[in-house]
Amino acid sequence: VANVGVEAAAAGKRALVVTGTGSVKKNGLLDVVMSALDSEGVEAVELSGVVPNPEIGSVREGAALCRERGVDMVLAVGGGSVVDAAKAIAAAADYYGDPWDFFDKKAKPAKALPIGVVLTLSATGSEMNGNSVITNPETSEKRPMYHPALYPRFSILDPELTFTVPPDQTAYGVVDILSHVFEQYFHNVQDTPLQDGLAETIMWTVVNYAPLALKKPDDYNARANLMWASSLALNGLLAAGTGGGDWASHMLEHELSAKYGIAHGAGLAVIFPAWMRRVYKTNIVRFMQFAVNAWGVDPTGLKEEDLAVKGIEAMENYFRNTLNVPVTMADYGIDGSRIEEMADSAMKHKKLGSFMSLSRDDVIAIYETALGS
Ligand code: NZQ
Ligand code: ZN
Repeated sequence: VANVGVEAAAAGKRALVVTGTGSVKKNGLLDVVMSALDSEGVEAVELSGVVPNPEIGSVREGAALCRERGVDMVLAVGGGSVVDAAKAIAAAADYYGDPWDFFDKKAKPAKALPIGVVLTLSATGSEMNGNSVITNPETSEKRPMYHPALYPRFSILDPELTFTVPPDQTAYGVVDILSHVFEQYFHNVQDTPLQDGLAETIMWTVVNYAPLALKKPDDYNARANLMWASSLALNGLLAAGTGGGDWASHMLEHELSAKYGIAHGAGLAVIFPAWMRRVYKTNIVRFMQFAVNAWGVDPTGLKEEDLAVKGIEAMENYFRNTLNVPVTMADYGIDGSRIEEMADSAMKHKKLGSFMSLSRDDVIAIYETALGS
């Protein structure tokens, strides 16, 4: 973090410093960042208050500030929500329409201000990719955009900055990292030992180090392994040569976050077991491999289908019992009353699924399974 001033000075002279709802003020990180900027002559303009599941209002506010104050770079200090808001602001600074246009697929950014990141939570991979996901509370929508200009110019990943992440957010982050691997691991391309090995090593690492970070929040090695996994799980590497990933579960999850305000990782723990149960017969060999190589299920004497299902169960048990993250919508008091609306919204912009292409009936069935009891 001590280098943030030097890195920022290489990108601009006046930085919009974007932060969340208070954690970086409380733990002293913002002071460290501000004095590092100051010592390299980078002027700081502050925008705080970005909420988890970041909202378009902060993006509009940040873009206006950039124009009024002549900001020439955006520095995110926080978790994925802060990083995503900073990216959207960087793209909107020179766009005179409504920034929601980018997320509603009505416009594409022509360019973006340079973006820097000081990451405080291992989860989204936003620190090393060109994605931003923003919520519009007026329409109850949460939508992603991708643009190469949103790729951060630099990201500072210091595991010690994640020591203060509380257990629930640590666990949601772990579910998110694993989910990014799942989205890319489940494909139907043959002969991909290198991609499979990378994905399996990330899953194995995360599954084994997360309990250590939960038990001892300042365990440096545990936090470091999670942080590195966060970036490698969603920087494009895992899906190289295999078609880019499935991503249907992420689109189904965004509906839960948009409509019910639950954390992204919490929603994924609900959606993934249901999605897997719907799709595993499409390529049962892949799910057998998942059971053995990611979850250590002993295949001896098991029929193909039983082995595949045991892998899904092992993942579900891990979410529920090791990470303490619920796996049904009912656990969050969510009923089925908005399932049809969520299905239509999830399918608004593109077809869902590449491992298995999902029909509207499939989507509704997945939500119904995710409801639980
Ligand atoms: O608001 P602050 O004060 O920053 O507190 C946050 C927030 O309450 C807190 N926190 C973060 N770092 C901390 C800390 N508390 C103590 N110590 C620290 N070091 O944790 C809470 C959650 O933070 P948030 O940024 O919302 O979490 P996360 O990193 O999981 O980001 C989630 C958002 O990213 C999107 C999600 O949809 C969600 O909106 N995603 C972004 C992706 C991308 N850009 O590539 C991909 C993902 O699939 C995902 O969709
Ligand atoms: Zn995710």
